[in-house]
Amino acid sequence: MGLTVIVLAAGQGTRMHSDLPKVLQPLAGRPLLAHVLDRARALSPDEIRVVYGHGGEQVRVVFQDADLSWHLQAEQLGTGHAVQQAMAGIPGDHLVMILCGDVPQITEQSLRALRAASEGGMGLLTSLLDDPSGYGRVVRNAAGHVEAIVEHKDANADELSVNEINTGMMAIPAASLTTWLGKLSDDNVQGEYYLTDVIAMAVADGIAVGAASTQSASEGLGVNDRSDLARAERAIQWQIAETLMAEGVTLADPARLDVRGRVTAGRDVFIDVNAVIEGDVALGDRVHIGPNVVLRNCSIGDDTKVYANCHIEKSRVGAGCQVGPFARFRPEAELADGAKVGNFVEIKKSRIGPGSKVNHLTYIGDTEIGSGVNVGCGTVTCNYDGANKHRTVIGDGVFIGSGVQLVAPVTVESGAVIGAGSTITKTAPADQLTVARARQTTVKNWRRPIKAK
Ligand code: UD1
Ligand code: CA
Repeated sequence: MGLTVIVLAAGQGTRMHSDLPKVLQPLAGRPLLAHVLDRARALSPDEIRVVYGHGGEQVRVVFQDADLSWHLQAEQLGTGHAVQQAMAGIPGDHLVMILCGDVPQITEQSLRALRAASEGGMGLLTSLLDDPSGYGRVVRNAAGHVEAIVEHKDANADELSVNEINTGMMAIPAASLTTWLGKLSDDNVQGEYYLTDVIAMAVADGIAVGAASTQSASEGLGVNDRSDLARAERAIQWQIAETLMAEGVTLADPARLDVRGRVTAGRDVFIDVNAVIEGDVALGDRVHIGPNVVLRNCSIGDDTKVYANCHIEKSRVGAGCQVGPFARFRPEAELADGAKVGNFVEIKKSRIGPGSKVNHLTYIGDTEIGSGVNVGCGTVTCNYDGANKHRTVIGDGVFIGSGVQLVAPVTVESGAVIGAGSTITKTAPADQLTVARARQTTVKNWRRPIKAK
């Protein structure tokens, strides 16, 4: 049986009090909707259709590359009405699986169980909640068969005492669904076209309603406000931490790791508290990440140690390097194997060669540094003339004294030594000492001024 997935994402999300449509709110660094789409794609459906409404254009822009079709629900008249907007052209023999764009924690396993429950009729995904208030309740008959869903606002006292709730996710053969949607009415407390009314219609038509249950209650929970979002964030972060630990990573505290993207790690990696990992990050074997480190779109080679409070973005760090504490790598910093970058050093669009050291209070921008170089404390590459950026080239084995300014474009040839405090504006020749500073003089017979009266 073919499968079409319809994702409902037209709700306004009023309780977020946000300019961002609800399904674009970030969870683990990606929009809520992206999580739901991942799960839908795992089922290899023939098609995914998204029903959008409020702020919809913004949503379409974010997902413009994706293999989706978009269906506008101009007015939010209820979940049944929303599904109806996306039905045109779905083959009658397809199974239609309805998911919610704001239920991001749903697992592939539960969706497979839902699909299995639909065989021989239609399927419904339910959860058991200690506090079911607000949700549609699953009403079963004496034999335990599902008879209907009653919305909280429409429920009587008996129905309100039911703990089994409708997650909002269903799997229904397209032909039947089309018929039932055509018969929905908005004659209920909220004046909406409820998708949930199709359950009673299925029962009336003698179609079996199979109920599958989510593995855990939290999976089926929707994100309606920022408190829900924070809970979902903690839950997903915990899962990511569990996965990393299962792969052999030691986390100083799994509750103090935030991964907002994808991370891969080799063997015996250690990550201290409060690491924030964003985008795509790859850690080699035996990498050590100190506390309060931000890693964004970068790779760190085997045996490298990144000490506390470093910020590394869009950079490549080789094997056996030492970084920080308090180092900042801006985009396109590259450290070759065995390089060392110490405290209060900023590196941008530069390559530091094998075994080279930039240990203290230094800015290196638009620079190529060879191997075995030592850059002294307080060195600045003056790469910007106010209009354009220029490159600095430093050859192998160079020694740069402390407090040096290298005014780019400029080259320091291999083996050169630059005296401390120099301002270098021309090529410094290979294997020689270059000093560019005023000579020290001592003024004889000079006296300190004396304060008048
Ligand atoms: C719905 C179910 C309820 C279930 C709950 C689970 C109905 C009538 N009720 O209730 O049984 O327990 O979800 O979270 O279906 N949406 C649209 N267009 C609309 C209305 C909603 O696209 O006109 C989308 C929302 O963006 C959301 C989903 O449908 O993704 C559910 O809508 P929501 O308003 O949260 O439904 P509830 O009333 O909470
Ligand atoms: Ca909801």
